[in-house]
Amino acid sequence: MKNKRVLSGIQPSGNLHLGNYFGMMKRMIEYQENNELFCFLVNYHALTSMNNSDQLQRDTINAACDFLALGLDPDKSVFWVQSDVPEVTELTWILSIVTSVGLLERAHSYKDKISKGVVPSHGLFSYPVLMAADILLFGGEVVPVGKDQKQHLEMARDIAIRFNATFGETFVIPEPLIEEDFGLIPGTNGEKMSKSYKNTIDIFSDKDDLVKGVMGIVTDATPVEESKNPDSSILYQMYSLFLDDSGQEKLRQRFLTPGLRYNDVKKELIDIIWNYFTSHREKRQTLLKDKDYVLKTMQEGAEKARDVAVTYLKKARKNVGLNYWQS
Ligand code: TRP
Repeated sequence: MKNKRVLSGIQPSGNLHLGNYFGMMKRMIEYQENNELFCFLVNYHALTSMNNSDQLQRDTINAACDFLALGLDPDKSVFWVQSDVPEVTELTWILSIVTSVGLLERAHSYKDKISKGVVPSHGLFSYPVLMAADILLFGGEVVPVGKDQKQHLEMARDIAIRFNATFGETFVIPEPLIEEDFGLIPGTNGEKMSKSYKNTIDIFSDKDDLVKGVMGIVTDATPVEESKNPDSSILYQMYSLFLDDSGQEKLRQRFLTPGLRYNDVKKELIDIIWNYFTSHREKRQTLLKDKDYVLKTMQEGAEKARDVAVTYLKKARKNVGLNYWQS
């Protein structure tokens, strides 16, 4: 894929783990090389599931530092905090006019939340409308998301199509790019790596926590003198994230050859993870100490994003007839 406007919003939610990085961030950052990347931290969305202002503030700035440290280049891409372009809330209102309640009621993620006992707010209910506004306000052409966001993206398309049909051509119809294995990085117990399962390996933790995490990867009880099955091994899968094809093949052979000790492999993996993120860790430390630089970078990103936003918003306002002064 080349020369497309690739756009995605990311929840600013605490410590990053290997699943976030290999499942999403790494690939996202790679899009900046051959495409026009628009990437933002969705703090308005985060508000639908939290009410701790200190934490939201902290999570947002930390997520900005994390992305910048991991290689998101503000000169090659447009990177901002959602609430710094408040035009998106106005577009949410305008889009809500063409969004049927039935469509929103069918949202899996909304239904899941209520079935878990969450008392639904209007904000939670209209989460997909805000997400549609996120995409349409910037003319996003391709939206890479995990399977769990597929339906939200279809809703954004429906809303855009309905809007264009009702009020005239206004918005680009976004294409989903569903990354099949997005988010499928196993955690230390083999389930999908996720903070809520407490099975993560955090990429910016200190060495002791990294050691604890890797040593805690569940392995089977195959005796040392027998050959091990790489295909059912979480350790093998996790190690493979850091290897190219030939490296993976070598590791596979080591698993198949009797004598391998899981603990030795774990010790290697600790060093590999630690070294892989060393330069990112250092960059992150520098950024955390230089908040002014980070804030300035985010402000500049918001300005770039806003330049695009106002053109789409202006068109939408005009097409629905808010431009009474021109009558
Ligand atoms: N709902 C998405 C998630 O939870 C985040 C998101 C918000 C998003 N706005 C977006 C993703 C726009 C893609 C495009 O992961």
